[in-house]
Parts: sequence; structure tokens; C-alpha cells
Amino acid sequence: MQKKLFIISNRLPLTVEQTENGTTIRQSSGGLISAITAYLGSGGADTFNETIWAGVTDCSEKVWNSANNLQEKMDYTYMPVFMNSKTYQSYYNGFSNSLLWPLFHYFPSFAEYNSNYFDAYINANKIFAELLAKHIKKDDVVWVHDYHLLPLAGMLRKKFPTITIGFFLHIPFPSYELFRVIPKQWQREILSGMLGADLIGFHTLDYASHFLSSVEKVYKVERDGQYLSWENRQIKADAFPISVDYQQFNDAYDEVDNSQVKNDYLELKGDKQMIFSVDRLDYTKGLQSRLKGFKKFLVQNPEYIGKVVFVLVIVPSRDSIKKYVERKRMLDEYIGSMNSTMGNINWQPIIYHYNHLSFEELVALYTVCDLALITPLRDGMNLVSKEFVASRKDKKGVLILSEMAGAARELTEALLINPNDTTEIADMIKTGLEMGVEEQEERMIAMQKRVSRYDVNSWAADFFGQLKHVKGLQLQFEIK
Ligand code: G6P
Repeated sequence: MQKKLFIISNRLPLTVEQTENGTTIRQSSGGLISAITAYLGSGGADTFNETIWAGVTDCSEKVWNSANNLQEKMDYTYMPVFMNSKTYQSYYNGFSNSLLWPLFHYFPSFAEYNSNYFDAYINANKIFAELLAKHIKKDDVVWVHDYHLLPLAGMLRKKFPTITIGFFLHIPFPSYELFRVIPKQWQREILSGMLGADLIGFHTLDYASHFLSSVEKVYKVERDGQYLSWENRQIKADAFPISVDYQQFNDAYDEVDNSQVKNDYLELKGDKQMIFSVDRLDYTKGLQSRLKGFKKFLVQNPEYIGKVVFVLVIVPSRDSIKKYVERKRMLDEYIGSMNSTMGNINWQPIIYHYNHLSFEELVALYTVCDLALITPLRDGMNLVSKEFVASRKDKKGVLILSEMAGAARELTEALLINPNDTTEIADMIKTGLEMGVEEQEERMIAMQKRVSRYDVNSWAADFFGQLKHVKGLQLQFEIK
């Protein structure tokens, strides 16, 4: 039997940009892209006859068709989804990122309720469904990802009543008290859409429980543990904490050692201690309280002036949304003011880079720094923390991690902080910078054990294993 795997996400893993010098192609960023590319890249889905990744591209159909070599050396086939820019703006910038994203990350005051956004969201999902319907066969396996595509599984289920569909949410699912602030009709369409899947995965058990209780309350359906009965199907909602390709990051430690990039960073560091963080630009990432915490640390511990440097990398993201543009301006001002008032001619407390990093640069920074400072106000998982742990083959380095990140459930040996408490951040920076090598190693080894045991391949295998089980074991595909 020819069985295909369809991975469906809002964005394809590559961004094609038309510049003055022609077309450039780079990998898209974000947790979803890192995890799925790592899983497919390691041959995880090789037991399927073919893997197809469907998603929107940032470019027009014409630019896409003119870009050469897109498919070269890929483990999967791209299926680009095109829609007009008005629909895309309202679906992506509007409903997805100006309602679902802030609300699901506990920023209800940022949420915009606009019925045009909702209509575009449904339309965009229909465009995905119609394109996919032309290619899917009844024995194929469909894996839908994330908050942009909550209604899609329901739409596909109507077209293919018996097909196997998995859905995974890469962001938190909020408690019912928050979910209920969405207009009722939208609540119903979101939940029934998700219930089109056979298995619905979340990063943590809390998120799965919030989802199940929202279904119970909105649809008055009773759950049986993690199961629900819906339109004559048994559906399961469970936790699958997403992870990284542990081996890839661990091996990269040796690969970047002695590289030009790493040597440059070592030179930049000199005899100072280095703090490092990398995030997409987002108000959920707690960048401002991170900077305030760092400033407090320097004020309270002036002996560190000139002895520590904070390399802060922010990856551009969603820069046509007002809240993101504002955040960027606030950060630029705050960093400028901190550098000019606290720094001197020979030293600046913050080295600020607003751009994308290559894999080599990323690993070099993970391995050169003394401390990774990760302080989101809310984060579904946070893969940066796991990447940092995986890349420290030398077992050194300290992780300061927000207890509001899903990863804090697993990385319990990190120095856990409340991201709203800038005094705690300041104190933990001091503790981290002064931690002895033995304690660093003990903590790092414990975290590495956990991340290596449940890496991105275990995550996907676990998901497919349960999908097979929920489907009544009639599926023939093998799990690696
Ligand atoms: C988060 C979301 C992903 C998204 C990523 C990047 O990780 O869960 O779905 O792809 O952010 O966001 P962007 O809006 O740039 O695709």
C-alpha cells in the first residue's frame, strides 16, 4: 500500500525572498520548524512512501516557480499553498496573531475581536483543505500543526470520514476561563475543528486538560480520562513534550570547536563572562523584564561592571503587526539607553543583534557563553533551552529558565525564575555566574539525560504510536 505522510503547517520551512540581487532562500524560524525539520532530517518518517509538507510561502507563485533547486537534497516534497494577500493578512496577522496568539499566551488585553479576521481564518483553512483534498488518499496519514490551522482537521474529516489525522498544538492551550472570552460561535468552530483529529497533542498535561475541559463545557460532552467520544469516534488528547535533535546539537559542539566563528566569539568574550539569549521578537518572550533584571544585577553588583557581557539576539518576526513594531522600538530604546548610561568607551553591557543566526553561529554562542538567560512570560515549550542543554558537550554552563515555559517541567535542574520578578532574575544571574564547575556539571548532566532520552524522534514516535493506538491498531505503517 502506498502510504503518504502529509505534514501541514502555516509556514513552509523555507522562506523565499526576492531581493535586489535575485532570489534568496533561508530556513524559516520558530519551534515548529526546528522540530519538524529535525525529525524529518533524521529519517524519522522514512517508513512512509513519501512525505509532503504543505504550507504557505512568503513569496508569490511566480517567485516560487522561478526559484531553482528548492527541492534539492530534501527529505520531503514541498506543497506550497497560495492565497491572496488580503486573506492572508487577516488570517495570519489578524485572527492567528492578533487574537489566538495573545489570548492563548495569557495576554487577553492584546486580543482583537474582529469578525473579518475570523472569516478570513476560516477561508484560509478552506484553501488548505481544498488543495489537500486533491492529493490525499484514504490510507494516508495527515499531521496538522498549530494554532493557524485549528479548523482544518474538522474540514478534512468531512471530506475523508475514515482518514487518520493527528493534530499538534505548538503553543499553550489556555484555561477555560480565558478560552471562554472568545465569541461562542468561534469557540465552537475552533473546538469542533480540532476534534476532527483522532489524536490531539499538546506540550504539557495542563494544556491537554484545559482543552478537554473547554470541550466539556462548550459541548457538554463527558470525557473519560484523556478520551472523548465525538461523532462516533474516540478521540484522545494527551501531552507530548516536543524536543530537539539531541545528537545533532551535541555533535555540533565538536564541529564548531576551533571554527572561525567560535574563535571570533571567544575573542569578543576575552576574560569577561558571557550571558546569552536568542528569541524571536515577541512580547511573550519577557525581553523587557530580562533586560531590567540584568540592569538590576549590574546596579546591585557594580564589581561586575566591565566583567560581564550580555549577547542578546532577537530574530525578526511578525514585523507587520503593530504590537511587534512597538516592542522592537521599546527594546531598541531600552538597550540604547542602558549601553549609553552604564557602558563606557571600552565596554558595553549588551551586544544586541537583530537578525537571523546560522546554525553554526547559534551553536558557537551556546557553547561560548557561561549562562543562558531564558525568561518568557509564557511559552508553550521553548526549544532554545533544550538546544542549549544539548549542545553543552563540555557539561558546563548555567541555564536560567522561566517557570512559565513548558520546558521548565522537564528542565528542573535549571535555575528557575518567575519572569515578572526582576529582583529574582538579578539574584539568579549572580548565582549563575558564581556557580562552581562541579554544580554546573551535576545540573547539566541531569538535564542532558532527560533531553537525550526524549528527543524529537521520541516525541514524533510517541505521537505516531498513540495515533495508531487511537485509530484501533488498523494502521499498517511502521513506527521507527
Ligand atoms: C511559534 C509558533 C509557530 C510559528 C513560530 C514562528 O513557534 O508556534 O507556529 O511558526 O512561532 O512564528 P511565525 O509567525 O514567524 O511563523
